[in-house]
Amino acid sequence: QYTRNMVTGASTAEVAVILIDARKGVLPQTRRHSMICSALGIKNVVVAINKMDLVAYERDVFDRILADYMAFANQLEFSGVTAIPMSALKGDNIIARSNAIQWYQGPTLLGFLETVDTGASRVNHPLRFPVQWVNRPNLDFRGFSGLIASGRVAPGDDIRVVPSGKNAKVRSIVTMASDGAMQTLDEAVAGQSVTLTLDTQIDCSRGDIIAAADNPPAVADRFEATLIWMDETPLLPGRSYEMKIGTQSVAASVQTPKYQVNVNTMEHLASKTLELNAIGVVEIATTQKISFAPYAENRALGSFVLIDKMSNATVAAGLLHFSLRRADNIHWQATDIDRKAHAQLKNQKPLLLWFTGLSGSGKSTIANELEKILHTMNRHTFLLDGDNVRHGLNKDLGFTDADRVENIRRIGEVSKLMVDAGLIVLSAFISPFRAERDMVREMLPEGEFIEIFVDTPLDVAEQRDVKGLYKKARAGALKNFTGIDSPYEPPLNPDIRVNTTQMSAPEAAQYIVNQLFGL
Ligand code: ADX
Repeated sequence: QYTRNMVTGASTAEVAVILIDARKGVLPQTRRHSMICSALGIKNVVVAINKMDLVAYERDVFDRILADYMAFANQLEFSGVTAIPMSALKGDNIIARSNAIQWYQGPTLLGFLETVDTGASRVNHPLRFPVQWVNRPNLDFRGFSGLIASGRVAPGDDIRVVPSGKNAKVRSIVTMASDGAMQTLDEAVAGQSVTLTLDTQIDCSRGDIIAAADNPPAVADRFEATLIWMDETPLLPGRSYEMKIGTQSVAASVQTPKYQVNVNTMEHLASKTLELNAIGVVEIATTQKISFAPYAENRALGSFVLIDKMSNATVAAGLLHFSLRRADNIHWQATDIDRKAHAQLKNQKPLLLWFTGLSGSGKSTIANELEKILHTMNRHTFLLDGDNVRHGLNKDLGFTDADRVENIRRIGEVSKLMVDAGLIVLSAFISPFRAERDMVREMLPEGEFIEIFVDTPLDVAEQRDVKGLYKKARAGALKNFTGIDSPYEPPLNPDIRVNTTQMSAPEAAQYIVNQLFGL
């Protein structure tokens, strides 16, 4: 929980107090904490060098620690570093000046905290008001409630709702007084929770942003970001995570990290993933455009979390750097002969029949039987099979979790193109993870993805051991083998389930045909 707590705290703080034990000096965790504070946009740091009483209040000790700290902190983005020698035990330089530390002329800790400029500058940025909920107590009142992330707002101001782009004027600002009575305000600024009413009825709902009409936030779907990984399960590049940014929620996937930061040395390290507590820079893609601001400009619109869709755990915190324009320059090319035309000519409803199950469960055999039946029914089909695709398109991939995610992502994209071409596609891959099977389901129009669970118990598949791979895996000669030392997540709700201990492959294929065509 250590990084998570640090991140949560630092993301709302304006000043950090970094405590150093004068006897120990700068430790790895001093650097780590400073690095996280800097990444989270804290500009002011107090280096509180404590326990000076135990080093005889020696100026040399203080100077050496400070020099050490600055050698590191100079690479960070702090605008002010204030070092204070103190003893919490004796009360030196906490509230009152210390008699024992005559050589120090700077502020006491409390003195500093009371006078530091915490940059109320958020107020001077353009208005950003993420709508948290629509407040509609009766038909005469429709207000938009939330917390002002930046800027100021007053009745009469021109605003724009993002992403819809509709303009309106602010009619009133309403807030609740401490006694529960409604109160109207002449102005509200960043940090206040208010309800806004507008002069016209426009579409605006949770997740939208009310912004200054002449300076709305950017929208994009490709970004560079810093990610702080907070889960035991490492990042899986290519997996679809839920991204929550402000009040918006979208699906997002992360690419292989550009680099990971060694928090002790600030060095950039090559890395294929991010593990617990790792900090890295990544590219991230969302399925829909979102309104955002670089974190450096606006913490509320520039920070996000990633949530694992299966476990619902928050797995990472992130800070957006900027959007990547590349995506803006690639447009979807509309063609005249579309997916409907392709399907019509073939006189069939295109489908993706997705077989999932353990190695040796019978996926390929049943898919092959099924394709033969469909062929005799004059259906246009194509069978994609794990072992075959891994000889060509995916020959660069192995069997780590990350490679399996990428394997299924590519096969999903290929299958989708073939379904667009009007075919009935049979895909037979172990596809061990629910997240990726669900991702493929979401790529296709409703009803075109049919998940077929080839349900063969592990001991049965192992007994068959057609390719001798289970034996190798048990002997330790084959690593990451599904069912042995790599997980398989069975479908919770497959469209069709075939039990291969009760049906032969041709029977299973006929059973699937019956299910598909309601025979
Ligand atoms: S998937 O997990 O990424 O979906 P895929 O279906 O493409 O796997 O490939 C599985 C086939 O690769 C198996 O049928 C088996 O013949 C072979 N194979 C080789 N090594 C492994 C392994 N470690 N785990 C599972 N299958 C393996």
